[in-house]
Amino acid sequence: THAYPFYGPGPQAGIATPPQRHIVYMTFDLTSTDPRDLQILLARWSASIAQMMKGEPISKVDPGRPNAGALDTGEALDLAPASLSVTVGLGPGVFDDRLGLQAFRPKALRPLKHLPGDALLPEISGGDLSLQACADDPQVAYHAVRVLARLAKSTGTAATRWAIMGFGRASAGVGQSTPRNLLGFRDGTRNIVTEQDRAKFVWSDNPGWGAGGSYQVVRKIRMFIESWDTDRVDDQNEVFGRFKVSGAPLTGTHEFDTPDFKAQGPHGPVIPANAHMRLAAHEHHNGLKILRRGYNYTDGINSLGMLDAGLLFLSYQNDPHAFETLQTRLGASDALNEYISHIASGVFFVPPAPPEGSYIGAHMFA
Ligand code: HEM
Repeated sequence: THAYPFYGPGPQAGIATPPQRHIVYMTFDLTSTDPRDLQILLARWSASIAQMMKGEPISKVDPGRPNAGALDTGEALDLAPASLSVTVGLGPGVFDDRLGLQAFRPKALRPLKHLPGDALLPEISGGDLSLQACADDPQVAYHAVRVLARLAKSTGTAATRWAIMGFGRASAGVGQSTPRNLLGFRDGTRNIVTEQDRAKFVWSDNPGWGAGGSYQVVRKIRMFIESWDTDRVDDQNEVFGRFKVSGAPLTGTHEFDTPDFKAQGPHGPVIPANAHMRLAAHEHHNGLKILRRGYNYTDGINSLGMLDAGLLFLSYQNDPHAFETLQTRLGASDALNEYISHIASGVFFVPPAPPEGSYIGAHMFA
């Protein structure tokens, strides 16, 4: 079992970190307009996350005084750190006129614009704060979010807004084999894996926030699983422009073969004009790339008895506009749209990790 450091210098864990197996993701609404309350919450969250990432409880579970309540709820006590990372995001609402922190707004932070195909449910979208807890043990990830939610509530600073649990990473990091999403395809084959690409596309250089910040976009994307499962495999291959089993592009034989978007077959391009891979590829967006860090999720079955599951899409980029650019194209033309629906959305700035002894966002309160 591995323990990642919480403190910087550098970015928070959970962005370039090779994706762990499980995720618990939660967003919060501010319930106080006093910036002091937010300051105290971010300081407490930071100290608590640092403890938990080491595999330690945030307080004694048996307090010295028998009639005292414990801050740590105890269910992760005998579990190892399990590669836990908890990544804190600040939403656009932190910087609106409620708290007087407008001067610190990261310059590209604003709600995402309406995008083609959006079927967003407001009650599970947005939020002023986000927590992305990833770990190789789901109980470790859940415990982290649970105790942090409790701290937010007990101080009256923030209330839970929406949450989602994901299992099975649907993206690969450095040195990892490419996992599969719930449509059965390898996901993350052509993802950002080098520090050179991260410097170019992921880390933002917002003045005042230091190096290693990034913008997090989250989308809950429902899949119409029953419908997908009736589709023939050769048609499924054409939806993505890749072969299901090998992950190779339709113009190649091995997973990492470079796709040949110009190759023609008897009925037109071998990688169809509306294939997901073609429409998302950097070759068709002036070289633009984003870092994808998605997970599979399920909410069980819906009221009609159908499988309720999909992709918890998470991406990191140095400007949320990069996501908008890609999704504008995908939402309008992607062959995959017949089988998916974007039902929740959020955007957050992820500040760099604080140095030891400090906390996330400290410079806003100096
Ligand atoms: C590629 C699945 C949504 C951006 C891929 C690939 C798969 C896939 C199987 C090919 C393998 C790979 O290179 O990773 C899905 C599924 C989605 C989804 C199942 C929804 C449920 C999105 C969204 C975006 C996106 C919303 C961004 C707006 C990309 C990009 C690539 C990609 C940039 C790499 C294209 C390339 O350069 O070859 N996706 N994806 N995907 N997807 Fe998605």
